[in-house]
Amino acid sequence: MNRRVVFLFLFAAFFLACNRTTTKMSIKKEPFGTVEGEPIDLYTLKNVNGMTVKIMNYGAIVQSILVPDRKGNFEDVVLGFDYLEGYVKDHSYFGAIVGRYGNRIAKGKFTLDGVEYTLATNNGENHLHGGNKGFDKVVWDAKAVKRKDAVGVKLHYLSKDGEEGYPGNLDVTVTYTLNNENELKIEYRATTDKPTPVNLTNHSYFNLSGNCKRDILEHRLWINADYFTPVDAGLIPTGELWSVKGTPMDFTKPTAIGKRINDDYEQLKFGHGYDHNWVLNEVDGSLKLQVSLFDPGSGRLMEIYTEEPGLQFYSGNFLDGSIIGKGGVAYKYRYGLCLEPQHFPDSPNHPDFPNTILRPGETYHTVSVYRFFVK
Ligand code: GLA
Repeated sequence: MNRRVVFLFLFAAFFLACNRTTTKMSIKKEPFGTVEGEPIDLYTLKNVNGMTVKIMNYGAIVQSILVPDRKGNFEDVVLGFDYLEGYVKDHSYFGAIVGRYGNRIAKGKFTLDGVEYTLATNNGENHLHGGNKGFDKVVWDAKAVKRKDAVGVKLHYLSKDGEEGYPGNLDVTVTYTLNNENELKIEYRATTDKPTPVNLTNHSYFNLSGNCKRDILEHRLWINADYFTPVDAGLIPTGELWSVKGTPMDFTKPTAIGKRINDDYEQLKFGHGYDHNWVLNEVDGSLKLQVSLFDPGSGRLMEIYTEEPGLQFYSGNFLDGSIIGKGGVAYKYRYGLCLEPQHFPDSPNHPDFPNTILRPGETYHTVSVYRFFVK
């Protein structure tokens, strides 16, 4: 009898110990191929709830985010590829960190301290997301991060003076961490030895239906913004701020993306849908809940907290089914959307917009957090 009790006790202790180890946060590093002879690794971060995020040191790309739907099914909520090759060949910025200047700079030109600089033009006559070889197409150094409350990857890249036309050596660090609150945090830091524009963000395409089952038109989007920056036909801000009131740009209440996307509204024609910057309310440099995205079909809800003053919302208007992504799925028209917390497009040419110039001695530092729930 005593032996039986002891045995049961030992069994229970063993069971609990096993369970504890399986529900611990974890980080795993695996080889993912090579780019120009440089090894690329894929880091898998997992929290106690089973939420899993994969990140690679090519482009500092988020390759997948697995989160449960309301029935507990874990599925991928970002677009991308199963293999490295897909990312190397593609130019849609799936999951990548974009920079040195995320978004557009008109005609690739700006004047800083009296000197005119010319950047690579890779989007018609404009500069987009850092040029021909932006931060999405370079190999970063990576280091696993293990903290008491989070696991992550710290990525580092030195962007050389003159790269894609930008002045100054820019030393960049991007740290992704996942915690047990189902929060993926991105912390950006940079320093420079010459004044330069900097605007970093993540270019993940979300589809909360899971494994890209439907287009994103049913997703309900909330953006805490009373104004947006209208653009010209080349998607360059005119410099004005327009009220969202009474327009299809009003997401101050959660609204289905498809509800007004085809309205007869010139700004939507210029963007072929939504491809604009919203001016976030109540920006004071602290981390604020500014955006949420809900998919009624799956029950998945994502919240974005950011310190940034703007949000580029792009509704996947250039996806046309020609890209075959993860699991052999064709990424059709509006099957993914980007929500990019950032400074406003073309800020170096708009002195009234929040400043994007980093100077020697200063540190660029900004944080955005993506939090996942079910409802
Ligand atoms: C962005 C731009 C879009 C488009 C995508 C990539 O976020 O705003 O116009 O270029 O990147 O296809």
